[in-house]
Amino acid sequence: MDVIRNSGKRDVLTTLEGVNIKVRKGEVLGLLGPNGAGKSTLIKILCTLILPTEGNAYVNGYDVVKEGQKARESLGFITTDERSFYWRLSGRENLQFFATLHNLPQTIVKAKVEEILDVVHLKNRADEPFLNYSAGMKQRMAIARGLLNDPTVLFMDEPTRSLDPGAAKNLRDFIKEHIVGERGKTVFISTHQLDEAEQLCDRVAILDEGRIKAQGSPTELKESLSEGSTLCDVFSSYTDKAFLEESSSQAPFMLGRERRQGRGLGMKRKGY
Ligand SMILES: Nc1ncnc2c1ncn2[C@@H]1O[C@H](COP(=O)(O)OP(=O)(O)OP(=O)(O)O)[C@@H](O)[C@H]1O
Ligand SMILES: [Mg+2]
Repeated sequence: MDVIRNSGKRDVLTTLEGVNIKVRKGEVLGLLGPNGAGKSTLIKILCTLILPTEGNAYVNGYDVVKEGQKARESLGFITTDERSFYWRLSGRENLQFFATLHNLPQTIVKAKVEEILDVVHLKNRADEPFLNYSAGMKQRMAIARGLLNDPTVLFMDEPTRSLDPGAAKNLRDFIKEHIVGERGKTVFISTHQLDEAEQLCDRVAILDEGRIKAQGSPTELKESLSEGSTLCDVFSSYTDKAFLEESSSQAPFMLGRERRQGRGLGMKRKGY
């Protein structure tokens, strides 16, 4: 009752402010930022799962608010949320279910699922219930689901979380060689692994407290600091509060025209 009666009085938290990012076709963009920076919120807006309170965003040219359906047809969303699968259904049944939700005819659904099971190397375990799968297999299932509608742009929210180093490397190779190299997809990926961002991403954006603090290729960002700086130095420079207070008069490092492009995306969340 308190939530209903006082819905207008809840505290408002600005989760994203003035976010401007452009991702080119066939590029891998890495989104870095500390916990609570707003990475998942930004990805959810771009995937049309939540609405921004201000600003515009386009996926494959489609406005995520006004042309949500078209944007959804162009994108795949890969998250580590295992609860979004049906644990008692097999891997194959899960994928057939999610492929059906994309409105594909049943004959195409079956063929598509077999093709994708092959791609993620899960064909020989496809009839086991999802609950039997290891974390790495569940993650591959999430990727398989994200590929079902053959999207142009793939959004991945911390896809290597809970993977062992070998499985994480396999996934990085898979993204680089298969998803980007062979299929020519555009990838928007959030990660906490700086070495992963360095190996995988053409460009990275550093998000902190809802604002983009820096963006550019890993090399450009490192060169923006003193010689011999690592991506870790870049990350702590742009996200460390002490550093930001000392250098608050300095404009954050940004490349291209992004800084002049208005207010960008914003998101205000109402507290629980
Ligand atoms: N459903 C929600 N309702 C209200 N506030 C939320 C909700 N989800 C997230 N937030 C808040 O929005 C802010 C950004 O959260 P978000 O999940 O986008 O961060 P993140 O960068 O993905 O963090 P992490 O690295 O921990 O995944 C946080 O302060 C969080 O508490
Ligand atoms: Mg997150």
